This record gives sequence, structure tokens and C-alpha cells, in this order.
Amino acid sequence: MVSVILPAAGRGKRMQAGVNKVFLGLLGKPILYHTLKAFASVPEVGELIVVTGQDEVAALRRSLHHVPGLPQVKVVTGGSERQYSVWNGLKASSEQADVVLVHDAARPLVSRETIEAVIASAREFGAAIAAVPEKNTVKMVEDGIVTATPERAKLWAVQTPQGFQRSLLVAANEKAEADGFLGTDDASLVERYGAKVHVVMDSYQNIKITTPEDLIVAEAFLRQRKSTKEALLDAAAKVHDFLHNRKD
Ligand code: CTP
Ligand code: MG
Repeated sequence: MVSVILPAAGRGKRMQAGVNKVFLGLLGKPILYHTLKAFASVPEVGELIVVTGQDEVAALRRSLHHVPGLPQVKVVTGGSERQYSVWNGLKASSEQADVVLVHDAARPLVSRETIEAVIASAREFGAAIAAVPEKNTVKMVEDGIVTATPERAKLWAVQTPQGFQRSLLVAANEKAEADGFLGTDDASLVERYGAKVHVVMDSYQNIKITTPEDLIVAEAFLRQRKSTKEALLDAAAKVHDFLHNRKD
């Protein structure tokens, strides 16, 4: 069984909407709704754990009752840093889960293919992250001066989900906590613990909604998906009509 931790306890400062951005709408539904639905479409996922602000827990629990088709959902309180939010979620996860995925609630465009590929890789190797090859040239800069230009072909932009054998992620978080280490993603804790992290090719569509323009891009991707789905349904209906109207 796979347990999914969805950190959603940020304040969305860069979005400047005055509310937690995961509750903002995309084509009429909250960002968090789209994210939950993406994971609910994967049969292996047995548990969803949403980590959110203390003042949002009760209202979120109530509203999740009205969302059909979700596996078991737990709502827990987050911390002041994303890493602490994830650790709270992990402590609440079922020990029945062999694999745990961590996924930013603010990435509603994650595909079923990516989720399944990260689960398979985490199960086989212990740790796996979704990422895309870096498109830009990236430079190291100190005090406004370039100090190095890492070879672009070796650079990957890391996204989520990140998947781990549950026991490995627990051990890596315990070590980070004991050492007072704060990483910028979950895999960095596991790397530090000494395990190898495998990379799964993701899609450039799996963006993290961070600033207001990301909402426009995300809606465009969602609309295109919807129309692709409608086009497929149309085509299927035509084949159906054709087969049923045959005179032979
Ligand atoms: N997150 C969390 N707990 C925190 C900080 C962030 O659970 N203490 C979550 C966010 O809700 C988000 C994900 O981690 O789904 C990625 O973080 P980010 O994009 O930085 O979101 P925010 O922290 O909300 O945004 P900002 O940094 O602009 O305030
Ligand atoms: Mg943040």
C-alpha cells in the first residue's frame, strides 16, 4: 500500500492572495482538489495525508467529506517549515504503507504516469524523485559575481512526487531532526542519510503554483487536457455509432 503526504501548510506569500494558495480555484475547483483527484486515480494509493495550517484543519476535514471517490484521507497540522510539515505527515502515516510519496499540494497537474513511475522506482530502489532536464543555463553567483557554470547536461530541475520506502524516509527524518539539518527537498535528507536516489523523467507540465502567473499557465494546461479528453470521447462515440449503424 502507498501512503501519500501532501504538504499544504504554507502561507503562499509569493502568490500574494492573502490566503493559503492551495485553496485558490483552477477551472472552478480548488488547487488541492485537483491534486487529491490525481492521486485518487491510482489504485495502489490507499491513504492521503493532507498537512495544513492549524486554523484550516477542521474546515478541511469537513469539506473533504463532500469529495467523492477519495481513499482514506487524514488531515494533520503542519509546521513552520515544509520539512517539519512532511515529518508530521509521515508520523501520521500508516505502518502498513511500504512506500510513501511526498507531493507538493501546490502541484495539481501531476500525471498518473509520473505517480506510478515514482512508486515503481521507489519500491525497487528505495528512493526516487520526479525531475525534468534543466532548460536554462544555471550559474553559481556570489556577491553578484559568477563563480561557476555547472555543465547543463548534468542539471535536473527537481519536482514532486518524491517516493521512498517508508522506513528509509523515517530514518532520514530522524537523523535530520537529531542533527538540526534543514533540507530544501525530501530527497536531500535521504541523500544525507547515505541512500541512492533514482531520477524519474517527469513532464514540464507538473509545475508548482507559486506566483499569480502560474495560475494562468495551469488553467491553460487543464483546459487542453479537458479538450483532449473530450476529443477522445467524441472519437469513441463516432466509432460506436459507426459500429451500431452498420447494415451488414
Ligand atoms: N508547505 C508546508 N508547510 C510549510 C511550508 C510549505 O506544508 N511550512 C507546503 C506548501 O503548502 C506547498 C508546498 O509545501 O504545497 C511547497 O511550498 P511553497 O510552494 O513554497 O508554498 P508556500 O510556502 O505556501 O509559498 P510561499 O513560499 O510563497 O509562502
Ligand atoms: Mg514556501
